[in-house]
Amino acid sequence: MTALLLIVVALLALAGLGLLLAPLRGRVTDPDAAERERLDTERQRLTAELVSLETDSRRPELEHRAARTLRDLDALPPAPGRKLGVWPAVTGVGAALLIVGVGALTFVPRWQLAALAPNEAVAVKSALSLPGLQAQASRDQTGTAYLAWGDAAFDAAQYSQASSAYAGALKLDPRQPRALRRLGIMLLTGQGTQAAVSQEQTSQAFLLVRTAAQLAPNDPESQLLLGYALNTFGESKLALAALERYRTLEPQGRDADDLIAQLRASTDQTDPGSRLYAQSCASCHGANGLGGVGPNLHESRLSRAELQSVIQNGKGTMPAYPNIKGAALAALLDKLEGWQK
Ligand code: HEC
Repeated sequence: MTALLLIVVALLALAGLGLLLAPLRGRVTDPDAAERERLDTERQRLTAELVSLETDSRRPELEHRAARTLRDLDALPPAPGRKLGVWPAVTGVGAALLIVGVGALTFVPRWQLAALAPNEAVAVKSALSLPGLQAQASRDQTGTAYLAWGDAAFDAAQYSQASSAYAGALKLDPRQPRALRRLGIMLLTGQGTQAAVSQEQTSQAFLLVRTAAQLAPNDPESQLLLGYALNTFGESKLALAALERYRTLEPQGRDADDLIAQLRASTDQTDPGSRLYAQSCASCHGANGLGGVGPNLHESRLSRAELQSVIQNGKGTMPAYPNIKGAALAALLDKLEGWQK
């Protein structure tokens, strides 16, 4: 790709240079050159003489001759182009092209990819490599080749290809964790299969994901997909445990944040404030209070009494919650105050 781009840019640069320098290449002939030069020398001589005059006696005569020389110079047709060397022009144009060329090769490709989200950039790259990887897998018949094909297809969201590739990998090694869990999650979510998924297939798909998590328990993706899978069966507590384990294994992982917050809120029986918040407030202020339709509550500077007043009386477009009172209200206020710190 880059090599092709390089050749195209180089060809364009050469063509442009040729066009730009065309007028300079032909010999410039000036029929009045001799006369022009004579007059110019005369003008210089007269000017020098005028400047160095010590008495004024010759001034009128010199001024008269200088004026006539200037008039004659003006009367000549304009010179057809200054005798500018070709090399300064080549250097200038070359430098400009170099800057444009370097810019095109370094800035533009990044800019083109910048228009895509990081995931999309990966997807585009993966999609481009698919035919080659598929050919290699059917040629080599190795688990590695099938996995490489499957991974690229999975990243490119080509789920039916990914399913075939991972199935190929599992034929060669039935305990390959990544192939197991990814095939399982695709089956479970109906990705890559046209037919409706039966009850039995669903539990088989879940088994694939769970087996993978048992084979590679410390692989973050094992726990992430196990969490998703458990959640589809309504196993909130187990799902939350798997997803929290995923977050421990991969602290940078943001994939499950929303689901974790949602599960936490719905499973958190010990904290009535969180439960109440999840039921009544999260839809507008976000699962973690970071804002949505309503403002970010971590940034609120209201006192406890003012918070209570907003909750019970409403504010602007926020509805009033006169029924939140007593211990429930206290727990909710504790939670909001906890965020303000
Ligand atoms: C329908 C959406 C909605 C819901 C539900 C909602 N809020 Fe609000 N909330 C808002 C909006 C909008 C504002 C901004 C009001 C304004 O300033 O005009 C707001 C403002 C607030 C403020 C004031 C923040 C500040 O510093 O000014 C607090 C505190 C607050 N909400 C808490 C809650 C709590 C607690 C709940 C649940 C009991 C809740 N909200 C439910 C929309 C909502």
